[in-house]
Amino acid sequence: MKLFPQDFLWGGAVAANQVEGAYREAGKGLSTSDVQPQGIFGDVVERREGDFGIKDVAIDFYHQYPQDIALFAEMGFKCLRTSIAWTRIFPHGDEDQPNEAGLAFYDSLFDEMAKYGIQPVVTLSHYEMPWELVKKHGGWGNRKTIGFFEHYARTVFQRYQHKVKYWLTFNEINMSLHAPLTGVGLPAGSSKAEIYQAIHHQLVASAKAVKACHEIIPDAKIGNMLLGGLMYPLSCQPQDVWETLQQNRTWLFFGDVQCRGEYPGYMLRYFRENNITLDITPEDRQALKTTIDFISFSYYMTGCVTADEELNRKSRGNILDMVPNPHLPSSEWGWQIDPTGLRILLNMLWDRYQKPLFIVENGLGAKDKISADGAIHDDYRISYLNDHLVQVAEAIDDGVEVMGYTSWGPIDIVSASKAEMSKRYGFIYVDRDDHGEGTLTRRRKDSFYWYSEVIASNGESLKR
Ligand code: BG6
Repeated sequence: MKLFPQDFLWGGAVAANQVEGAYREAGKGLSTSDVQPQGIFGDVVERREGDFGIKDVAIDFYHQYPQDIALFAEMGFKCLRTSIAWTRIFPHGDEDQPNEAGLAFYDSLFDEMAKYGIQPVVTLSHYEMPWELVKKHGGWGNRKTIGFFEHYARTVFQRYQHKVKYWLTFNEINMSLHAPLTGVGLPAGSSKAEIYQAIHHQLVASAKAVKACHEIIPDAKIGNMLLGGLMYPLSCQPQDVWETLQQNRTWLFFGDVQCRGEYPGYMLRYFRENNITLDITPEDRQALKTTIDFISFSYYMTGCVTADEELNRKSRGNILDMVPNPHLPSSEWGWQIDPTGLRILLNMLWDRYQKPLFIVENGLGAKDKISADGAIHDDYRISYLNDHLVQVAEAIDDGVEVMGYTSWGPIDIVSASKAEMSKRYGFIYVDRDDHGEGTLTRRRKDSFYWYSEVIASNGESLKR
């Protein structure tokens, strides 16, 4: 399968709040993630000294990253996607001066990657923001947050300009519609008008970060990050097909603004018909005109859409509003497995935007067992990843420009939705359970050797 370009960015992806731990170390402030110990759909818990949540330690990457980077290097990673915890740099979010200890941590991390020639791919905001910004300023509901974020973005672009050449603005920016606190720092139960106003501020901030990145690091590339929530019509009834188009537009909207620099007509109609009047200034419109260099997205599953209200109500599950596809198997967590969907999505995004695409999350969350011989035979994970990568190759053959692939959680990490350790994605096993018990020892799974071979052969070892 000689399809992957020679400079294809093979690697893995993690996020600060799911790996680092050290949630109060070296001056770090509390983030929205720190007050949601049960994950992004969990309740907000105001912290008191000594409180314990699994993310407080996570997999202790903050202290153990040198050995983890060495393991990634052993697999041959060309890149590692991670995020900067905003609260390590600006603990409250609204300070003038950054926290030097926080900046120094990421210097060391990026230096460690550089030792092995691993390119950092850095998300500016992955499912967290300073909790103080939420409490004091109302999160992204407040226009002032655009300025705080721009200040943070410019600070890290300046500091890491010689170390980081790939940047992403907001992780799964469309998730704000489903998890408003995590996405835009608004309480659950906020109205659609409030959420879309906050999203507007975030879209402006994303465009301003793109502009700043281009100014400060002219040889860098900066992209957005979408949750690629591809939907199929449950039937070929025109009404189902129309509803599906509308549902896909709920997330494509973000890409449309970030790639085309203005709001699409279908959204203006939606706002009009739902009495949503956004505060959009002429300066905002001008800022939005700075568009991204590439599109990055996560891909785990697809779902179906029906116009039948009754059926809709009965079969809702998962994180998005979707009806299960009767033709697809599911993971232990009910996420439907659809490798072909990845080829469809890549083709669809390429046809729509004609911008390079970067798959920055994909993988199988599963329970792993350590065998008597100490090995972890995760053939289910190998087969999931193999089948998805074969479809990436097909898409490249279809003419789609794909920059790279970073599998989600190359080392076991805390899951975002429910803060579980038992939902494992890794090539590397971490000895820690859902209650926080375990030695944190790392151990190679069978998939570790499999992925090393895929990278070494630049995809030729994949099985069609
Ligand atoms: C994406 C997020 O939604 O999915 C990650 O960007 C997250 O942060 C991943 O971990 C998988 O979800 P979960 O809930 O299995 O961790």
